[in-house]
Amino acid sequence: MRVLLTGGAGVIGSHVAVELIGAGHQVEIVDDLSNSVESVIGRIGQVAGVTPTFYKLDVRDEAGLTAVFEEHRPDAVIHLAGLKAVGESVAQPLRYWDVNLNTTITLLRVMAAQGCHRVVFSSSATVYGTPEELPLTETSLTGVGISNPYGRTKYANEQLLVDAAGADPGLGVTLLRYFNPVGAHPSGLLGETPQGVPNNLMPYVAQTAAGKRAKVMVFGDDYDTVDGTGVRDYIHVVDLAKGHVAAIAATNPGVHIFNLGTGQGVSVLQLIAAYSRAVGRDIPYEIVARRAGDIAECYCSPAKAKADLGWQTELTIDQACADSWRYEQGAR
Ligand code: NAD
Ligand code: WQD
Repeated sequence: MRVLLTGGAGVIGSHVAVELIGAGHQVEIVDDLSNSVESVIGRIGQVAGVTPTFYKLDVRDEAGLTAVFEEHRPDAVIHLAGLKAVGESVAQPLRYWDVNLNTTITLLRVMAAQGCHRVVFSSSATVYGTPEELPLTETSLTGVGISNPYGRTKYANEQLLVDAAGADPGLGVTLLRYFNPVGAHPSGLLGETPQGVPNNLMPYVAQTAAGKRAKVMVFGDDYDTVDGTGVRDYIHVVDLAKGHVAAIAATNPGVHIFNLGTGQGVSVLQLIAAYSRAVGRDIPYEIVARRAGDIAECYCSPAKAKADLGWQTELTIDQACADSWRYEQGAR
């Protein structure tokens, strides 16, 4: 298939590009480089053996996006473009609502005008709010108790896409609810290089291991969990990318929803221990106060993706830490 990746120069998009090319698809990337660098495109080519066509473009630019569709006539779109920093969304809600919703609205308009009928959307476990029961399934309650503007834009996007599919019987929509993506490509060429202080756990642990941070601040050890620290479902970014290859093939008319996670919870202290094994020495940390808005535990049942897509995770948290550490040591 000819697949257009919006936000394809980003951490997840670059790994998706590699797996799509490896599966024989033709890939074009649209990205405004607001949170990535153009050199990633060349590194995708180094890893995959084929360099995708790249357009530096804001997805909200309807004329520019139309021109890309007219040139390449994609069979499907994987829509990853958007802003994703929870804390930043609290400070800049208008920017987050503008970017995260108007990219999708513009994309859907252009897809309809250009006769493109398949879209896979990067959603997030954050749409589940505070889980009432675990593991989370695709029928678990969504849209209630979402604690930040970013998460609310992801939920709003899901509703927008469901409405679009309801009005167009020929449109296929797949919502992929990512849990906690971690790790990097085993080549060491693709990974996450956060701007400024990392908000997420693994990149912060990586920078601590590299000596860029003094110690990991563990946000609370008084949760009702295995060791008192927060528990999450950490999915290797390569496994996540492979989930997109499986999803694109299954995006027939209608709405399809899948959790993409391991189904296993890992605590903060367990992740730090795994990273210490990857590095070969203990990584310093300090228990500090809880972070506002954090939930104690969150992990999914990935049974539906296995049953319907024939996809499941294959890589472990130790492999994610080893791949992350390899990338961190060569970080650009
Ligand atoms: P990222 O910031 O690395 O990638 C997003 C890309 O989108 C960036 O390259 C950025 O330059 C681009 N972009 C932003 N606004 C754009 C616009 N208006 N037009 C064109 N390009 C634009 O983030 P990521 O971690 O790769 O996340 C990709 C998607 O997955 C996002 O939609 C995010 O919400 C979602 N997601 C991420 C996580 C996670 O923990 N990383 C979890 C769940 C969902
Ligand atoms: C994981 C655990 C923290 C940093 C976020 C977004 C979510 C999604 C994934 C986009 C928690 C603890 C963290 C640190 C710590 N992003 N922690 N010290 O909060 O589960 O999810 O990223 O869609 O929307 O909310 O991920 O990596 O920030 O935190 O102790 O320096 O690590 O308390 O228990 P989170 P995280």
